[in-house]
Amino acid sequence: MGLRRKKQRGEKIAAPVHTTGEPHGGTGDWAVELDGVRRQYGRGSGAVHALRGIDLKLPRGSFTAVMGPSGSGKSTFLQCAAGLDRPTAGTVHLGGTEITGMSENKLTALRRTRLGFVFQAFNLLPSLTVEQNVLLPMRLAGHRPDRRRAADVLARVGLGDKGRRRPGQLSGGQQQRVAIARALVTSPDVVFADEPTGALDTTTATEILNLLRSAVDGMGATVVMVTHDPAAAAHADRTLFLADGRIVDHLDRAPAARIADRMTALTAPVYVGAAA
Ligand SMILES: Nc1ncnc2c1ncn2[C@@H]1O[C@H](COP(=O)(O)OP(=O)(O)OP(=O)(O)O)[C@@H](O)[C@H]1O
Ligand SMILES: [Mg+2]
Repeated sequence: MGLRRKKQRGEKIAAPVHTTGEPHGGTGDWAVELDGVRRQYGRGSGAVHALRGIDLKLPRGSFTAVMGPSGSGKSTFLQCAAGLDRPTAGTVHLGGTEITGMSENKLTALRRTRLGFVFQAFNLLPSLTVEQNVLLPMRLAGHRPDRRRAADVLARVGLGDKGRRRPGQLSGGQQQRVAIARALVTSPDVVFADEPTGALDTTTATEILNLLRSAVDGMGATVVMVTHDPAAAAHADRTLFLADGRIVDHLDRAPAARIADRMTALTAPVYVGAAA
């Protein structure tokens, strides 16, 4: 699974690609692979085409940001990629396993063991301790809770001494660190993050983004993050731009100002066209 392989020093990780191209080997080389993914809501003249054919291959150990105007399909993309929603057409592979067409039970099991999730609202269980929250994915998957592993990931996110606290006794940034520890505890193929810094102040947000970055660089994690914030996207290897259900552009290792410029062009195409 994704996190097992530690990135060697100086080893080159292939840049994520979003075009259909030849993978380096079998499908198993990619952490995430979408082929011709479409998602339509409703039918006939009232149909909404939220995704209009997404082709995407993300290598293991990569950090990808997904940006786009409101309604461009970011949440739909994340949900289809994470097996929380089913595409109308196309296929999704996670860690080499095709999830399209999987039964609901198998999908649930896969999500618990092979995917990690980080949400804007942290989504921790307030009645459980920090350690119990981190161990939850293992418990839900019916595995024996590995307390040493929980201690290890909590130490990695800088909360080695907070295992016995309740989430309500922690700051927002610390709660998001717990959520990241929980997302990493099973060494998942992919961590999906939906606006993970949306509820945090700028300084705390930067800490959380650095943490996600170090999970990729230090633990070989694969992170896919939806964000509205160009400063957040600037921590990723690649930023994908969605517009009207399609990936229309990407920037690699771009500073926040360039990402913001590209977003402005996407959100005001008529104005930009008129000004050109
Ligand atoms: N359950 C649904 N039923 C009908 N239409 C939907 C549904 N969910 C999303 N849509 C539509 O699909 C399109 C894409 O929505 P989506 O939520 O993926 O956008 P988004 O990029 O995440 O937007 P935001 O930045 O506002 O969160 C929009 O036009 C939206 O109205
Ligand atoms: Mg959304």
